[in-house]
Amino acid sequence: MCGIVGAVAERNVTAILLEGLKRLEYRGYDSAGVALFTNAGKLERMRRPGKVSELEQALAGEPLVGRLGIAHTRWATHGAPCERNAHPHFSGDLAVVHNGIIENHEVLREQLKALGYVFTSDTDTEVIAHLLNHKLKDHNDLTVALKATVKELHGAYGLAVISASQPDRLVAARSGSPLVIGLGLGENFLASDQLALRQVTDRFMYLEEGDIAEIRRESVQIWDVDGRTVEREAVQYRDGAEAADKGEFRHFMLKEIHEQPAVVQRTLEGRLSQNQVLVNAFGPQAAELFAKVRNVQIVACGTSYHAGMVARYWLEELAGIPCQVEVASEFRYRKVVVQPDTLFVTISQSGETADTLAALRNAKELGFLGSLAICNVSISSLVRESDLTLLTQAGREIGVASTKAFTTQLVGLLLLTLSLGQVRGTLAEGVEATLVEELRRLPTRLGEALAMDSTVEKVAELFADKNHTLFLGRGAQYPVAMEGSLKLKEISYIHAEAYPAGELKHGPLALVDDDMPVVTVAPNNELLEKLKSNLQEVRARGGQLIVFADEKAGMTNGEGTHVINMPHIHDTLSPILYTIPLQLLSYYVAVLKGTDVDQPRNLAKSVTVE
Ligand code: F6R
Repeated sequence: MCGIVGAVAERNVTAILLEGLKRLEYRGYDSAGVALFTNAGKLERMRRPGKVSELEQALAGEPLVGRLGIAHTRWATHGAPCERNAHPHFSGDLAVVHNGIIENHEVLREQLKALGYVFTSDTDTEVIAHLLNHKLKDHNDLTVALKATVKELHGAYGLAVISASQPDRLVAARSGSPLVIGLGLGENFLASDQLALRQVTDRFMYLEEGDIAEIRRESVQIWDVDGRTVEREAVQYRDGAEAADKGEFRHFMLKEIHEQPAVVQRTLEGRLSQNQVLVNAFGPQAAELFAKVRNVQIVACGTSYHAGMVARYWLEELAGIPCQVEVASEFRYRKVVVQPDTLFVTISQSGETADTLAALRNAKELGFLGSLAICNVSISSLVRESDLTLLTQAGREIGVASTKAFTTQLVGLLLLTLSLGQVRGTLAEGVEATLVEELRRLPTRLGEALAMDSTVEKVAELFADKNHTLFLGRGAQYPVAMEGSLKLKEISYIHAEAYPAGELKHGPLALVDDDMPVVTVAPNNELLEKLKSNLQEVRARGGQLIVFADEKAGMTNGEGTHVINMPHIHDTLSPILYTIPLQLLSYYVAVLKGTDVDQPRNLAKSVTVE
């Protein structure tokens, strides 16, 4: 999704802006641009559709040199991804970059046209540029004009603005789209994500909702939503391990898949006692709140939603707590009946997903007992706005297709299940101690699954010339099949659908032929025999089966049946383990098909717009 970088310094900032944009590339975008107040004393810009490298090349041909600048990667929402629509947008002597969506842009556009403004793009952002230009006529001062401008904007925005008439500053506004100020010595920076600025500083100030900032070389001034001057804490960022570096791996996705034993270990650290989960891992008030919970409502999007689907099986089976799971984009617009004493749980890698955040904000009006976020980003809006938090420790996830975030979310959700069961006394005798022990062994089991890398790579060849696939699972493996099919379609562009295996005969069986591989996850549990019958139904129609099966499940290779044996694992933890080969499968199919694995077409890492 869109990215913002800005800088005000004593040195030329072009390289800083470009490096910042490169560091935001993982978020997904389709054009890039930069505007500088150049040493020639005027505002100049360069914009290109496509990758940042194309912008860089263009700048190598026609360099822009200046000490004040803003830059942007755009993920098209209003208007096609072309140079005309790429940011920065100009109006007179000012330039604007914007993340988010302005919902009243059409009304404003008509008003501004009536005032004589001429639009050169189809974007909602150009409306902001012209409106600000108009406000400057009354207010003269860029910061004051920005304050007046945002009062008329409805929707979500992270904004950065520079002006040739006031080249001593960069001004910014945040509402619904994150912004962080990077603090330097005699120079300061702005970005939509601190990762973009790690090469120039490790001190950051996070803007809060409604904040306006005026950033100069030597000072930063911030006003809150009510216009009061406020101080925002400067935070030193210490985790050096999150370098945006592929290491020995060909893609970030493969690196992140292989990081799973380590990040699962990190997610468990400090959260387990000898034979129990430490409930206060969810916050000091968790025990008191959990004791009152009689229902759980989980809301999330995409992969995070699939994690929630797995958790439903755990919460009901292990902790005896009724649980509902819904995608955030549906939940937020539906009239919801809230059962008494329901805990509202959001799951999100980024903590900035617009639908999930909006669902949380709506939930606060609906009488839930309290809110809990399972999230990977400690400084995210979701974490800040939830009553309780469990931070997954996946580290920065760069590959657009989520992998390690998912497995750490599952670990967090199992900790939640055990905590709720523990506090409410609903766990069966010995279950918690057994699962705590199994969780401790999990990183080793995941390592064993990763050792199957080359076996899965071979199996991927069966998919390279296929256009459609089915993924099957039963029980808690059904969401694992859903996640497997999402991964495959995201990065290989092969059409993939997931079904609970028992549903096959109610329709999708009609699709099965020898051109439609059917991937199945088959742990050794009480549903195994039923699953085997479902697989017979597929074989009888000539379907090719690829079965990831427990080594003790007694399944063997045969005509049209490829069995890949998985290490044995406790059934409760099997969704986490069986996710690994499905991630590897998608990865190797995508590599065979030659797609852009880390930045698949049309997708963004953090979906901060509706
Ligand atoms: C799929 C994927 C997306 C995200 C979804 C929610 O690989 O990454 O489906 O899971 O956009 O994002 P978060 O978890 O950041 O809320």
